[in-house]
Amino acid sequence: MDQGPAITPQPMHNIVLIGFMGCGKSTIGHELNKNLGYRLLDTDHAITRQTGKTIPEIFEQDGEDSFRQLETELLEHLVAEKTSHHIISTGGGMITRPDNLPLLRQLGFVVWLSCTPEDILARTSRNSNRPLLQCDDPMAVITSLLKERSPLYEQTAHIEISTSGLEFSEISCGILESARYHFASQPDPT
Ligand code: S3P
Repeated sequence: MDQGPAITPQPMHNIVLIGFMGCGKSTIGHELNKNLGYRLLDTDHAITRQTGKTIPEIFEQDGEDSFRQLETELLEHLVAEKTSHHIISTGGGMITRPDNLPLLRQLGFVVWLSCTPEDILARTSRNSNRPLLQCDDPMAVITSLLKERSPLYEQTAHIEISTSGLEFSEISCGILESARYHFASQPDPT
């Protein structure tokens, strides 16, 4: 039977921030929200609100797989709802599930914020809300996860921006310029 022309899912107008813990997604998300006026949606916060548990509680009580499942369901929900005109700041492990990569791309312009392992260690050692780094040798974990995840960030993102040695306001300006260029080449879905 003739299925008719294939329907390509229409990309949505969001700026999606991906990248390792401590690379500045939250800070840059706030900066972009201030400059662009798009609403800020932080996936960790959304999951915390939805479950009534902190991220360490979810990891401890339900396990990491359960947290990853919540991340995938949230992305599916955002795509199904045709969420648009948001800054979507994602947890650092969002790219570890292959199913999430096309969902992230479908949500909009994907920016990989990267930085040096030294900066990651310095920025993440200030608090204890990241279960994966609560160990004797966080630098070893950072190095090993970065090796595993960097190709996935690269594969998913439209651009990479290093946040080491740059002001967050400069980074935000760079992202806005690239996003405008990206969206100008696409139809506005609204
Ligand atoms: C994680 C990153 C965290 C949070 C969870 C797991 C990861 O988010 O989702 O602790 O696997 O890298 P941030 O990248 O916002 O710290």
